[in-house]
Amino acid sequence: MALPQEPKYLDGNGSQHKVEKRIKTKKTLFVNSTPIQKGKPTVGFQAMKETLIRVRNRAIRTLYKSIFKPIAFRMDPEVMHNHCSGIGRLLGSNPFTRALTRLLFDYSHPLLERTVAGIHFKNPIGLSAGFDKNAELTKIIPCVSFGFMEVGSITGEPCPGNPKPRLWRHPELKSIRVYYGLMNDGCRAIAKRLAGRHFDIPMGISVAKTNNEATCEVDAGVQDYAKAFKTMKDCGAYLTVNLSCPNAYGGQPFTDPVKLEKLLQKLDDIPTKKPIFLKLSPDMSTAELDKVLAIASRHRVHGFICTNLTKKHNLGNGGLSGKAVDELSLAQIRHVHQKTKGRMAIIACGGIFTAEDAWKRLEAGASLLQLITGMIYEGPQLISEINQGLVERMKKG
Ligand SMILES: Cc1cc2nc3c(=O)[nH]c(=O)nc-3n(C[C@H](O)[C@H](O)[C@H](O)COP(=O)(O)O)c2cc1C
Repeated sequence: MALPQEPKYLDGNGSQHKVEKRIKTKKTLFVNSTPIQKGKPTVGFQAMKETLIRVRNRAIRTLYKSIFKPIAFRMDPEVMHNHCSGIGRLLGSNPFTRALTRLLFDYSHPLLERTVAGIHFKNPIGLSAGFDKNAELTKIIPCVSFGFMEVGSITGEPCPGNPKPRLWRHPELKSIRVYYGLMNDGCRAIAKRLAGRHFDIPMGISVAKTNNEATCEVDAGVQDYAKAFKTMKDCGAYLTVNLSCPNAYGGQPFTDPVKLEKLLQKLDDIPTKKPIFLKLSPDMSTAELDKVLAIASRHRVHGFICTNLTKKHNLGNGGLSGKAVDELSLAQIRHVHQKTKGRMAIIACGGIFTAEDAWKRLEAGASLLQLITGMIYEGPQLISEINQGLVERMKKG
């Protein structure tokens, strides 16, 4: 079976995107090309390569699950996250370790390539926001088979985050509970880090509101979002406005229609030709979601990330990722796809652990996928496994 039809983005002559017409964003931005196609059977060298990669992935999976994970899961999750970031920085620091990492984790196939919102992706799987908050792993992430990455969330001011502990594993739920509270170096320092850099894969920039009391008031919050947006807008391939951090001071203020309208109005006035995504909470009711979609349709918004963490639990502070958000995220993708009649790009995020999970989301209307928790529970070979699994699924026809 071939993948379902790609979203048909508005072409600039569409009736709904008045703001798009006003800012004369390029037509190509809305013409989503290259749907994943039905493939030809692999023969000879290609078949052998696929087999070798399958064997390699199985070996790494076994090592990860039987040796690395049992040790890592005994350590404090935040300490472990910091260690992994340190290893990632080291591996990314020179061409030799990058080549070695590619040898262990890379996978590519022409059937996976696609263009979404005018951006070309070598495959549809991205690293979700929150793993590389300060954009320090941008050299190593492309070596692990990711087709794109999203850094951040980045805020107007540097933010130390919430007091520790602020990260917990819930293996029984295949979830992680996150209460970081938007810890990051702030937009100025991160923009400086990224200035003039070339990236091997498209990089999205997630911006959020600084987690402090000063930004709780609506206008101050809008100004803070705008500061991060303006400072970061020249750095990546697309921008995400994180409306749904479950851990910010004062709750999730910008899903409220009045506040969202103000925020998007402000962002419309900041010139950029880059696509803009809104990251949504899985906990919104259908009525709330429909209001957000209606408001977004009047502004410069090209798509949605469905979804962030869920707060629907009674385990304590923070939001849950992984399987706890799986069904909520899938339901939201279906609703957004149906409600926007496939005209907006959807990035599926939440609970993707297998190629089957990924396929379900693509069938539901997503064009791209993001993950973190699956990689932590299953191992870093997961991205290659899912990509290969998607190719196999396409070839089945
Ligand atoms: C450790 C951690 C930190 C996160 N920080 C952010 C963040 O700063 N901004 C954001 O938009 N989402 C953040 N998220 C949410 C993820 O981007 C993603 O939406 C969520 O984890 C669901 O995907 P998953 O099930 O594949 O992990 C974070 C998630 C984790 C696990």
